Order: sequence, then C-alpha cells, then structure tokens
Amino acid sequence: MRVIITFLMISILAACMEGPSVNMQQVAHGQQLYETHCANCHQLDGKGIAHIVPPLLGADYIVQNRNLLPKMIRYGMQQRILVNGITYQQKMPSNGKLTDAELTALVNFVEFRFAKSTQLISADSVKLLLNQ
Ligand code: HEC
Repeated sequence: MRVIITFLMISILAACMEGPSVNMQQVAHGQQLYETHCANCHQLDGKGIAHIVPPLLGADYIVQNRNLLPKMIRYGMQQRILVNGITYQQKMPSNGKLTDAELTALVNFVEFRFAKSTQLISADSVKLLLNQ
C-alpha cells in the first residue's frame, strides 16, 4: 500500500512539474488551420517535399528551436537551415493574418502532432515568445 501511495505521489508531483498537458480541442483547431495554411507545402503528414520543403514530422529543427516556432509561423522564414541532416534554403511565407489564438492553436498542433510534445503551450507564452 505504502509503495502505491508513494508511487501516486511521485506521479502527481511529476505531472505538476511538467505543467498542464495539451488541450485536444485546441489541437483539433490547430489541425484545421494546418490543413488550410500549411499542408499544401509541408503535406498533411508533415513529411514536406524532398529537398524543397522541410519536414515537420520528427524534425530536429523544431525541437532545437522550440522558442522560435511562433515567430517562424507568423513571420515566415528565408534562411539556410539544416533539418534532419538536409540543407534547405527556400522561402516560407508569413502568416500575418492569423490571430494570436489561431497561432497558439497551430503551435500546439505542430508540437503535439509532429514533435510528440504533450505539454500545453499557453497563449501568454506564445505572446511572450513573439516579443522576445
Ligand atoms: C509556400 C510553402 C510553405 C507554407 C504554406 C508553409 N511553409 Fe513552413 N516552410 C517552408 C519552407 C520552404 C521552409 C524552409 C525555409 C528556409 O529555408 O528558411 C519552411 C520551414 C518551416 C519550419 C522550420 C523548419 C522545419 O521543418 O522544422 C517550420 C516549423 C514550419 N515551416 C512550419 C510551418 C507552418 C506551421 C505552416 C503553416 C502556418 C507553414 N510552415 C507554412 C514552406 C512553407
């Protein structure tokens, strides 16, 4: 019994330390936005287009540049980047019309679906990252 209680306490503590987990409604909203604004280039499965559009699925670039994700989506990017060992140097257009709430939903979808993160990213932290 004591072992079970200790285990439960550790799990609760771990859950608290990790912060709240992803909100599936927000992920579903993010998925709709992804299908409209991103999938024509990055593809529905997130695998991209060989040597032209980098993959999002399993991309080391996302994990290494997590804090830049809101800015990448809002402002687009055009630089030389290395994603999973392959160099890309193309233009990704900006998405200036997405609201902060839409951007937050997209970031949560991309993190959950493609980077296997189960952590919730709040609208406040997205705003902070945009202003960094
Ligand atoms: C017109 C095609 C196009 C669209 C639409 C597009 N992207 Fe991109 N995306 C690119 C290209 C090309 C790059 C590489 C840019 C570079 O070389 O600097 C890229 C890079 C990225 C990266 C960083 C590299 C990686 O693979 O991890 C992320 C993250 C990303 N896009 C997410 C998105 C999201 C989310 C959307 C939708 C809001 C989106 N993109 C819409 C073409 C596109």
